[in-house]
Amino acid sequence: MIKSLFKKKKAYPLHSLDLHSHLIPGIDDGVSTIDETIAILREFESWGMKKVITTPHIFSEVYPNKESNILARHKKVVEQLNANGVGVELEVAAEYYVDEELLTKLNNNHPLLTFGEKYLLFETPFLLEPKILTECIFMLITKGYVPVMAHPERYIYLQEDNKRMGELRERGVLFQVNLGSLVGYYSENAKNVVKILLKKSWIDFIGSDCHNQKHQHVLSKVWGDKLYKKIIESGIRNDELI
Ligand SMILES: [Fe+2]
Repeated sequence: MIKSLFKKKKAYPLHSLDLHSHLIPGIDDGVSTIDETIAILREFESWGMKKVITTPHIFSEVYPNKESNILARHKKVVEQLNANGVGVELEVAAEYYVDEELLTKLNNNHPLLTFGEKYLLFETPFLLEPKILTECIFMLITKGYVPVMAHPERYIYLQEDNKRMGELRERGVLFQVNLGSLVGYYSENAKNVVKILLKKSWIDFIGSDCHNQKHQHVLSKVWGDKLYKKIIESGIRNDELI
């Protein structure tokens, strides 16, 4: 009785839309079976999340996914979610690796997978900034996309370079922070960078980057976290996309 009085209240997310995950089975390093997709989305549903935008990797050397294939696979997954009574809406976009293939697609006006108002999620190598990053950002903006950099806090080349982060923002890049970074899942450095980004009001979106049930377990520790609450209060844009 006394024990239950002091039991910590279960915390829930304060936002309703997630926009970075790998939940289409078997096409990248995310979930491998539809059962995993269903289990993860049921958990999101139990947390009160309304919509999940899943973002398979498009990375020519490692995950050479085609937009058309991602759309076809997403359609099949949605059918299975409906058949199993999963109540979270699953949309699809992609996480583009900054490489020559992306530049070629932009030059050829190849339609890219986006969410909301032509937001395009992109990632880069972790150690070094790609030489074509500035050109890619310029091309994306010229073609009417809004570039959203996935997890800027995780890139070693940016972690101690606030000036470069500021330049990227001046060029029109938005930032999406990973929720796991808030509780130190990736590294203490990444967590510290999130604090700097928050201070500078440079966090536009938060995302789970959920690849599997282990990641999901990490997320359950985020909802009661003080840094998470502060980021929500800072006015992120996730729920504008519902
Ligand atoms: Fe990702």
